Amino acid sequence: MKIGQPEKFIIDGKRLDGRKPDEMREVKIQAGVLKRADGSALVEWGGNKVIAACYGPREVHPRHLAKSDKAILRCTYNMAPFSVSDRKRPGPDRRSVEISKVTRLALEPVIFTNLYPRTTIDVFIEVLQANAGTRCTGITAASVALADAGIPMRDLVPACAAGKVGGEVVLDLFDIEDNYGEADLPVALIPKNNEITLLQMDGNFTKKEFEKALDLAIQGCMKIYELQKGALRERYGGE
Ligand code: CDP
Repeated sequence: MKIGQPEKFIIDGKRLDGRKPDEMREVKIQAGVLKRADGSALVEWGGNKVIAACYGPREVHPRHLAKSDKAILRCTYNMAPFSVSDRKRPGPDRRSVEISKVTRLALEPVIFTNLYPRTTIDVFIEVLQANAGTRCTGITAASVALADAGIPMRDLVPACAAGKVGGEVVLDLFDIEDNYGEADLPVALIPKNNEITLLQMDGNFTKKEFEKALDLAIQGCMKIYELQKGALRERYGGE
């Protein structure tokens, strides 16, 4: 069911789903959910349900894509036809090609690809249910799946978006805010060295609003980072 444009996005300091402006939706992360993948993760983030599966390092097909000095990383983001309210036509489209690419660029810097020349590391991201912020949910799931597969990495890559609705900067938009809001700013980063690996912007911010949104998104990423580590701890024990 599609809900029309709301008159107000924030009433008495609360958003339409009851959250405070700087509050994230509930996030649950589980590592190792698929038997046949080398590594996997399920992330439930508000109304999003996303599974990531990682395979490799393994032989590259077609062979000519192989690099003699490092592994290649391939990421495929796919949205299930039943994941959104208007059925999505199955198969790749411009949006999924774009999200697959930015996901690869967000994750590549943390992987020690030089350790596995002539191989590929493949990551499949399947969106089973979507409610705004699926690229951040996908990147978050993919980096846990990579770690679960035992791929040597410098760090995990958490992701989170901030946005603007009703003139106010808020954390982690849900679908009504995403559809009718003024701006969306998805961010992914490498916590260890504070390096941003994904920064996209949809809509308009003033410079001040942008700085506030970026700050909020970074704080969101750090919360997600703790949950990612928690999911791996849960599966493998340790600190
Ligand atoms: O999901 P994300 O915010 O990263 O990407 P988006 O392109 O800004 O899409 C925002 C939301 O629109 C998605 O999360 C879905 O909930 C919804 N959407 C949809 O309903 N149908 C599509 N074909 C694509 C997206």
